[in-house]
Amino acid sequence: MSDLETLSRDLLERIHAAVDLTSLEAERVAALGKQGAITGLLKTLGRMTAEERQVEGPRIHGLRERVAEAITARKAALEAAELERKLATETLDMTLPVATGPQGTVHPVSQVMDELAEIFADLGFSVATGPEIEDDWHNFTALNIPETHPARAMHDTFYFGETDGERRRMLLRTHTSPVQIRTMMRQKPPIYIIVPGRTYRSDSDATHTPMFHQVEGLVIDRGIHMGHLKWTLETFLKAYFERDDIVLRLRPSYFPFTEPSAEVDVGYSVVKGRRVLGGSDAWMELLGSGMVHPKVIANCGLDPDEWQGFAFGCGIDRLAMLKYGMDDLRAFFDGDVRWLKHYGFSALDVPTLSGGVGA
Ligand code: PHE
Repeated sequence: MSDLETLSRDLLERIHAAVDLTSLEAERVAALGKQGAITGLLKTLGRMTAEERQVEGPRIHGLRERVAEAITARKAALEAAELERKLATETLDMTLPVATGPQGTVHPVSQVMDELAEIFADLGFSVATGPEIEDDWHNFTALNIPETHPARAMHDTFYFGETDGERRRMLLRTHTSPVQIRTMMRQKPPIYIIVPGRTYRSDSDATHTPMFHQVEGLVIDRGIHMGHLKWTLETFLKAYFERDDIVLRLRPSYFPFTEPSAEVDVGYSVVKGRRVLGGSDAWMELLGSGMVHPKVIANCGLDPDEWQGFAFGCGIDRLAMLKYGMDDLRAFFDGDVRWLKHYGFSALDVPTLSGGVGA
């Protein structure tokens, strides 16, 4: 057997025996690299006579080609084997059921906010938001509650220290109504928005927590009147409580930012010791509302002769308690997982009007 054949057999054997890509690369360098065996042989061609070269040239080039092919083939085989190994060890059976159910639940307040967005989206309203840390101009002054107004004291406001007189005093918003102002100043009418969000007042008992949730409604358009307000509230509450027999009663009231203002009561009856909404046996107060005061519209740079509207504000926690039967508001914010397991919602229980906005 010639030297060349021995070398060829030896090289090919080692290439086949390479167990991984690193050792294969070492074999490639040993054969075809700058100092490689075959490279060395190719160099000898220069020193040969023309006749010798005619015989040896094709043999050496042939050997180089076979070795290069063997390396390519071995490389492909090693890569395929590696992929096989990965696929075998990293299996993921997509048909298996989830072993443990999701641990968390959607808080009833979040669920109700989603329900509100769904109901009002169907009426052409979009969802607006604003900052929880407000200044007193947006929270009070622009809403027609001047510095000396007694309504400021009624709100039990959390203030952030004193101001130097120049800057507006900062506070935790006491209601979602400042977002009325922010929206009217930013966006040209017509405006149809709801504003769900956190609000703060220094107050705490079974039905009051220092942080609570409100939803504001605001419509600014041409020719809006109280009839639109009443219809909107009725449509909203019938959809929310999923009952057609919801009856509303509008009582004259007072808010500095609406004129006229109305407190809205909803009818209920007591069935087996529980309040059930619907009918008109008894009444409970549910929300505040009214026609947006012309001064508020003017404060936002709009002409009150051209634009009118209505607004309402409603406690979201209260809405949740009435629909889902919790009786202590403080438990909402205790973060007790047992309470959340009992009253929370599945993440997949997305409220839709077609599928129902109920539980
Ligand atoms: N902002 C009022 C409150 O918190 C509620 C309200 C909103 C009343 C809009 C009328 C119009 O009590």
